[in-house]
Amino acid sequence: AVSGETKHDLVGKRILITGGGTREPLDPVRFIGNRSSGKQAVALAQRAMQRSADVTLIAAHLEVEPPAGVDLVTVSTAAQMHSEVMTLSPEFDIVIMAAAVSDYRLDTVSGSKLKKVDNGGELHLTLVENPDILKELSSSKSAKQLIIGFAAETATEDDLIRIGKDKIARKGCDLLILNQVGWDQGFGTESNTVSVLASGGDILITATGSKMSVADTILDCIATPPIHNA
Ligand code: CTP
Ligand code: CA
Repeated sequence: AVSGETKHDLVGKRILITGGGTREPLDPVRFIGNRSSGKQAVALAQRAMQRSADVTLIAAHLEVEPPAGVDLVTVSTAAQMHSEVMTLSPEFDIVIMAAAVSDYRLDTVSGSKLKKVDNGGELHLTLVENPDILKELSSSKSAKQLIIGFAAETATEDDLIRIGKDKIARKGCDLLILNQVGWDQGFGTESNTVSVLASGGDILITATGSKMSVADTILDCIATPPIHNA
């Protein structure tokens, strides 16, 4: 939680944050997307800047304004986000993958608007897997880089931690920010409940509050040893 004066504890830290939700086109006018608003990523970018970090935000279809003065890179598809993250990340100390990245894309994108056809009332699309940016980043990072992933799950509270521990092991990132989402929970809402998992699976902290205060909790975990591996 923030109270009183802002600490400038991230001075000199270069932080790359991804946010929003990627979109995979079917044709020039349609896409497959998700409900991520980008609010948590924007809050992270804003608080990190206020705490004196050097912040670049890679944004996919944000529903909110990015913080004034942030270095902004806009993308649409997972492939574009993958390319920007892999190009830019070597210059950053910390990468926070808060974006909701499409796991799949259309195997072929139609150059013209798809027509409705008589196919017994069904349309069959073939999807192919997108690159796993977080996994690739975690396996190619330098020793002093810190890589942070997010996991939004519809699981019950008990299953959530088990799934999170499994996911952080699979992804190989340093921290995993775990939260529960649902039809009316998590996406686009003003507040959030998160648990921060360390690479060994320990829960470092659980916090509920505005996306701004959750951003501060996450940044506290980054700024404060022993997690910080500078
Ligand atoms: N992520 C990524 N590249 C992808 C998919 C996800 O970098 N192609 C990142 C997200 O930005 C997030 C983390 O991986 O930080 C976890 O995403 P999530 O969708 O929860 O994990 P998946 O491994 O895709 O597992 P699943 O969707 O089956 O739960
Ligand atoms: Ca996924």
